[in-house]
Amino acid sequence: MPASRVRVLVPGRINQRVVDRLAGQFEIVRIESADPALLTPELRDVKAIAVAGRVPAALMDALPELEIIANFGVGYDGVDVAHAVARGITVSNTPDVLTEEVADTAIGLLLNTLRQLPQAEQWLRQGRWSREGAFPLSPLSLRGRSVGLYGLGRIGLAIARRLEAFGVSIAYHTRSPREGLSYAYHPTLVGMAGVVDTLVVIVPGTEATKRTINAEVLSALGSNGVLINVGRGSTVDEQALIAALQAGVIAGAGLDVFENEPQVPEALMALPNVSLLPHVASASVVTRNAMADLVAGNIEAWFETGRALTPVPETPFTRRAV
Ligand code: DGY
Repeated sequence: MPASRVRVLVPGRINQRVVDRLAGQFEIVRIESADPALLTPELRDVKAIAVAGRVPAALMDALPELEIIANFGVGYDGVDVAHAVARGITVSNTPDVLTEEVADTAIGLLLNTLRQLPQAEQWLRQGRWSREGAFPLSPLSLRGRSVGLYGLGRIGLAIARRLEAFGVSIAYHTRSPREGLSYAYHPTLVGMAGVVDTLVVIVPGTEATKRTINAEVLSALGSNGVLINVGRGSTVDEQALIAALQAGVIAGAGLDVFENEPQVPEALMALPNVSLLPHVASASVVTRNAMADLVAGNIEAWFETGRALTPVPETPFTRRAV
């Protein structure tokens, strides 16, 4: 079948550049969400999905000819990968092209949280500097901090490299130690939380990481402790975090991701000691363009060469001759 006739399904919203680029070669079909009830019978021949969100098993099962799901984002927790593996469907993601951007944002969020820079800017914009005088001194600082990275993949390493330049001590927790690094390794998360005062979360959202930042870990982090999350909201027990921030169990938090996005608990927004971002770690035009190109490139490569450019490790499949 010539590539021009292959149908690519786009459920929900996606960066327009993905659609513009694929539209030259493929027939793009858009539906409002990943709900299989929205599929008409003639869409049963869809062979590819480009998505920036969820792909549940039910959507895959409504598409018997589906071969590849190209996920917009390095994290692919929205895609039921176990089901894709069982069906022999390739899943691709967008690693590398966002690594430096997300690491930059993590550092920005860390500094905003510690030094209250967004609040200081509001102080100026509201005319309070000229009316009331200097913005109050920030109770927290990066000086002298000891940072523990929960996760040390590509983005974790990029954050660590940046932190080196800030002269803070660096430790990490992953399932097993990484060779050739001078950072202190901790075999348990709670053990690391007990010896650092700043915890940066950059693990994927999986069953294994779900709500692992819990009351026990926050209590170990302690009253000078600061939590930064640029991974997934599911990793943090949000109610335990709110309770810890309210009670002074930890000193502050900087969050780019939440358990139930785009809903952010009122209790979190009411807290003065948090810095909150609407999941923007990779959200610059240049980086989102690169991610869009990689989503489109994965689908193009699949049908041209039989291999995705960046398949996730669980689906190292090649295309069967058709
Ligand atoms: C990702 O790539 O997983 C990011 O969270 C999207 O910004």
